[in-house]
Amino acid sequence: MTTITAAITAVGGYVPEHVLNNAALEQMVDTSDEWITTRTGIKERRILKPTSLGTSFMAIAAARELIQKKGLNPSTIDLVIVSTATPDMPVSSTAAYVATELGATNAFGYDLQGACSGFLYGMSVASAHISSGRYKKVLLIGADTMSSIIDYTDRTTCVIFGDGAGAVLFEPNEEGFGLQDEVLRVDGNGRSFLKIEAGGSMMPASAETVSARKHFLYQEGKSVFKFAVSNMTRAVNQLLEQNNLTKNDIDYVVAHQANKRILDAIAKNLALQHDQMLINIERYGNTTAATLPLLLWDYEDKLKKNQKLLFTAFGGGFTWGATYLTWAYNN
Ligand code: ACO
Repeated sequence: MTTITAAITAVGGYVPEHVLNNAALEQMVDTSDEWITTRTGIKERRILKPTSLGTSFMAIAAARELIQKKGLNPSTIDLVIVSTATPDMPVSSTAAYVATELGATNAFGYDLQGACSGFLYGMSVASAHISSGRYKKVLLIGADTMSSIIDYTDRTTCVIFGDGAGAVLFEPNEEGFGLQDEVLRVDGNGRSFLKIEAGGSMMPASAETVSARKHFLYQEGKSVFKFAVSNMTRAVNQLLEQNNLTKNDIDYVVAHQANKRILDAIAKNLALQHDQMLINIERYGNTTAATLPLLLWDYEDKLKKNQKLLFTAFGGGFTWGATYLTWAYNN
């Protein structure tokens, strides 16, 4: 039996118009452009206004761009997956709303919560749905409204995150291009370092949780930094080894845009050339599940058929991994 590979055949993206730059943050918290730039590499991020538009607004915009570019009939989409840590609502699937708004009348859909690794995990399930032979068109969207869960009085987190969405289409590929292999992991001990404590089943919302600001993202940045660098490096090395690849075989590393210093540390650990690493963190900050598809969106013109791409991400949970994919088309 021949294996069906699942390839990315189209890309779309959306970032909100409103720009929050470092100068504006200097007016909000005790920080400086110099600190933010040297510690994170971020110059500006996009913010969804009003926040109440919800993550679905950006997911729909990114998917609509893809549909228009590809000339895709939405009724032929089989499945819509929305990877997000910031769904429109805790209950009621964001993917269901997105699919309906897109006119994907023959699709099913679900949300996938893998924090900053949500898109990486989504690539795994999207490709498995295709490789099973059961579905032909899977729309995978990574979208997050981080501004809805960030405390803009907390300088340790508010300088890092931004809002955005990216979408890709997975289809069967007859030439063997597409997702080749992956190393995916979790470590639940990580949840003490990166979390939103309230609003879930363990600590339902109350007046006390709101006044204690427990609905905002909390992170121990230093620990997250350390785990992110070591685990992404290890996952990439394992993936290279199990596919008999060296770093010189890789055209591009598509890595979660968490912090420029994390990216630099990974590049150093793997002895990568500067131009092997795709980077756009300076313009968007950390958009959680949207960073990987937004890199594809920004760099789509550079990507050529048969190039080898290594994706890697790390996020809350902890969740992390690395994925090896060959690019299937010229733009
Ligand atoms: N402006 C000025 N000073 C600041 C700021 C700021 N925005 N934020 C923190 N500081 C101060 C601290 O208070 C501290 O001061 P002190 O020495 O007087 O106590 C000093 O700067 C150093 O703080 P550190 O936390 O040690 O700074 P660090 O160099 O580690 O950078 C950062 C902090 C940027 C958060 C970094 O640790 C980081 O990027 N961590 C990883 C975050 C990440 O990747 N998250 C990904 C997953 S997110 C997800 O899954 C949703």
